[in-house]
Amino acid sequence: MNKYITKSLSLVACCSVILFACTPKSESSESAIMDTNMADGHSYAKPNEAVVTHLNWKAEVNFELQKILASASLTLKTAEDATQLILDTKDLSIKSVTNGNNEELSFVLGEVMPHIGAPLTIDITPSTKNVIVTYETSQEAEALQWLEPSQTTDKASPFLFTQSQAILARSWVPIQDSPGIRFTYEAEVTVPTELLALMSASNPTEKNESGVYTFEMKQAIPAYLLALSVGDIEFSSLGDRSGVYAEPSVLAKAASEFEDLEKMISAAEALYGPYRWDRYDIIVLPSSFPFGGMENPRLTFATPTILAGDKSLTSLVAHELAHSWSGNLVTNANWNDFWLNEGFTVYFEYRIMEAVYGRDYSEMLALLSLQDLKAEIADMKAAGSYKDTSLKLDLEGRNPDDGMTSIAYDKGYFFLRLLEETVGREKFDSFLKEYFTSNSFKSMTTKGFIEKLQTQLFDAYELDIEPAFYEAWIYSPDLPENCPTPVSDKFENVDKALATWQANQSKEELQSAHNSDDWSTHEWLRFVRGLPEGLTLEQMTALDLAFGFTSTGNSEIFDAWAILIIANKYEAGYEPLEKFLINTGRRKFLMPLYREFVKSPEGTEMAKAIYEKARPNYHFVASSSIDELLGM
Ligand code: BES
Ligand code: ZN
Repeated sequence: MNKYITKSLSLVACCSVILFACTPKSESSESAIMDTNMADGHSYAKPNEAVVTHLNWKAEVNFELQKILASASLTLKTAEDATQLILDTKDLSIKSVTNGNNEELSFVLGEVMPHIGAPLTIDITPSTKNVIVTYETSQEAEALQWLEPSQTTDKASPFLFTQSQAILARSWVPIQDSPGIRFTYEAEVTVPTELLALMSASNPTEKNESGVYTFEMKQAIPAYLLALSVGDIEFSSLGDRSGVYAEPSVLAKAASEFEDLEKMISAAEALYGPYRWDRYDIIVLPSSFPFGGMENPRLTFATPTILAGDKSLTSLVAHELAHSWSGNLVTNANWNDFWLNEGFTVYFEYRIMEAVYGRDYSEMLALLSLQDLKAEIADMKAAGSYKDTSLKLDLEGRNPDDGMTSIAYDKGYFFLRLLEETVGREKFDSFLKEYFTSNSFKSMTTKGFIEKLQTQLFDAYELDIEPAFYEAWIYSPDLPENCPTPVSDKFENVDKALATWQANQSKEELQSAHNSDDWSTHEWLRFVRGLPEGLTLEQMTALDLAFGFTSTGNSEIFDAWAILIIANKYEAGYEPLEKFLINTGRRKFLMPLYREFVKSPEGTEMAKAIYEKARPNYHFVASSSIDELLGM
């Protein structure tokens, strides 16, 4: 994934000390307010003094101004000596702050720090139970992407979507933006009447004439799970408690791609306990969505690049669904513990895929992961970020995005798989089920997880396992030698096919001896990724002629092939590649391609020329990464 290290800011830490040191707090009042076990260097919030427990959001989404005009009414729990409420903000224009009696409260918008924005410090008393902030978002709001009709699939109406994780919620709602702080919410959102609004909450299924939509989220969530989507969106039901939203022309395709969704939900519940969020819907967003998926509660946000037509890329849905337990129920206490969200989710994702499609299938996913992981560790070593290859991170003063590497995901996965293989699946599953149940709606630190592992798994079953066993995985860099090795006959066959191809470039032999006509997306990915470096024009042309990689409609396969287009200067692929880069905003696809380009001076020129056209279609999280790579 990405490793664009951003400028560090050693100032943040000391700055917060200066700002906050003047507030006296007693130990007893701290524990009375919030059972918090986290210090979050990416939030200004001081939840032990005053913590937000509920948000009532009223907003008007204005496409002409590309702004949200809103008020956030916050319900508070305050310590008996509370004097201040501190909210996180980024590029918000604050109009007024009042209490529940409509009395003005004095406030200070502090200094803006890179990444984390500015603290909004509001004077309160212990009896202040409600604070209302009236404000507008700015055009720089990093969570928001405003699309012109031409940037949507149907090209008829504008579109807005948010991406709040990791710390971008503060650019559209003044809130305590820390994963350890949870609140319930309700909202009333006004949008142009031809559009539908959806949130990470109870949702409408069709437009109404007023353009006013109300939402309720009864389960407490951290701010990074706040989400909003506005556009010409329609709904199609998939089952009793699931369905899909998309632009009209995408809806039927999306509904058929996700037809196994109910099976996935049942498989997940059978593994780790009931689904706690009532409905599970998916919205397929326009192609500029910067991620594959985002686990916004009740409404996963997804990229259209997973609509392959054959359900072959829907493990992403299993992944986002799995977050309904790992992440949304049990949440990383801060972004240094990100692996607790993502590693557990990849593990759970593969277990769901195994339950629905079989072990052969999930083992292919695991092997592709292992390949990613090894490559990323090598890259990180070379780039001097070897320290970031341990599961537990130190992102103080940095962009939490720096932690979004395959370490959290794939190293996290293999660690949990090793635990499973060491103690046996039955014991591990009952431990995990209990872990999700007893820590529901709570945050978890790495240390807290280790304690539970020790007491509830190792001690409970009298297993003699030394701390060194897990400490090597969690606190040390690199991949320990006891990393499990997935087994896949299918991939062994592909590896043989690769050797065959290198020996005689015979398509027929691949078909007859290696069944390539029946290969799945994952086998093709193994094949393309396994092709040797330095292919000649003749070899590239022969491959393309035989297997049609340049014209594939499968985004993952095209992305893997596009690396070879760039590396081998395969000109026949340039036009489709440019189109792909302009039409796709998914950062996981973009970064490896732009990185491949900048390996040569001509490539860099080409990348810059394409980027100039493509950049307006990218969300901030993608463009900020590419800006940095290309030195723009
Ligand atoms: N929660 C993540 C996306 C994310 C992480 C956004 C950190 C911002 C900061 C989501 O669940 C995710 O992991 N998406 C992956 C899916 C894949 C691993 C199946 C993606 O977008 O590629
Ligand atoms: Zn995830």
